[in-house]
Amino acid sequence: MKYLTGAVVLLLVQVLVGLGLLYSGIISVAASEPHSSLVRWVLDTGKERSIRNHAKGLRPPGLELAGQAEEGFLAYNQMCVICHGAPGVERSELGKGLRPTGPDLSESVRHRKPEELFWTVKHGIKFTGMPAWGETHSDEELWAIVAFIDQLPSLSPDEYRQLVRNAAEGGAEHGHDSVQESAP
Ligand code: HEC
Repeated sequence: MKYLTGAVVLLLVQVLVGLGLLYSGIISVAASEPHSSLVRWVLDTGKERSIRNHAKGLRPPGLELAGQAEEGFLAYNQMCVICHGAPGVERSELGKGLRPTGPDLSESVRHRKPEELFWTVKHGIKFTGMPAWGETHSDEELWAIVAFIDQLPSLSPDEYRQLVRNAAEGGAEHGHDSVQESAP
């Protein structure tokens, strides 16, 4: 009983110290400073577990469809480069100022399954700058983006520049109508 009372008192003291720290304003929310390693570990672990758990059971359609990846490129170039960059393209000023910054997705492809990428793109990541694109885009459009991301590791800066040039010359833009027309 004595030990139990001791444990409860200790827990209460810890809660009070935690609340004290929180209300004191000492903890910095400045995005100009990196997260401490403890905070980063908590956020990363939560993110990894959550993405893996929620993506379970999703069935990716074939990602090799060239047309799909092409539509995906237009969307990626317009909506994602700003924060994630692309081969030979740096993140924008907005993307550089985020904490955490958007990772290089050609690295993500190496350790994530397509369905995990899809789930993340559709639902976004709370408390980061990663938006939930599923609120404004159909699943077909989002799978097309995943099909394009899947090709990122093998795309050189020159090839990416060429895709941008081709799109500009052909007047191609990411638009909901054109993407939905080409969706199965
Ligand atoms: C406003 C900035 C912003 C935009 C725009 C943005 N993202 Fe992100 N994204 C982020 C940030 C920040 C993270 C990292 C969150 C973290 O580290 O916890 C992220 C994470 C991701 C991840 C998970 C990567 C991993 O390995 O954990 C994927 C996949 C992703 N974004 C895809 C996209 C796609 C596709 C688009 C465009 C449709 C996009 N993002 C647009 C900011 C952005």
